Amino acid sequence: MAYSEKVVEHAENPRNVGTLDKSDPNVGTGLVGAPACGDVMRLQIKVNDDGVIEDAKFKTFGCGSAIASSSLATEWLKGKTVEQAEAIKNSDIVNELNLPPVKIHCSVLAEDAIKSAIEDYRQKQEARRAAR
Ligand code: FES
Ligand code: FES
Repeated sequence: MAYSEKVVEHAENPRNVGTLDKSDPNVGTGLVGAPACGDVMRLQIKVNDDGVIEDAKFKTFGCGSAIASSSLATEWLKGKTVEQAEAIKNSDIVNELNLPPVKIHCSVLAEDAIKSAIEDYRQKQEARRAAR
């Protein structure tokens, strides 16, 4: 199976690999796994006080398509509001990277990771408000 050039490019030069400080209340962390293959993806966002994502990082233990999907996702996340980030669909990633059918679940992993990071961020904000 031939990988698209964009997948190879992102997999070889992943953007935004790393870790954000989990103790920061403005950081949301998503950790998701793909039951189909056992691959794991962690994606983090840092949201500023205007609700805009100012930073995004990921670590993916998995296949090239999963790495490329999360790399692309972090690029897309930066500068978006949380609401805009929530609207990112795995099909957007599939189209951009030209993923073949057997690799669609790798993009689902990225969408799930975004959603999970947003949920974590919201829960932390809630907890912070409740503590005031
Ligand atoms: Fe082997 Fe994803 S199935 S890396
Ligand atoms: Fe399972 Fe890519 S995430 S093969």
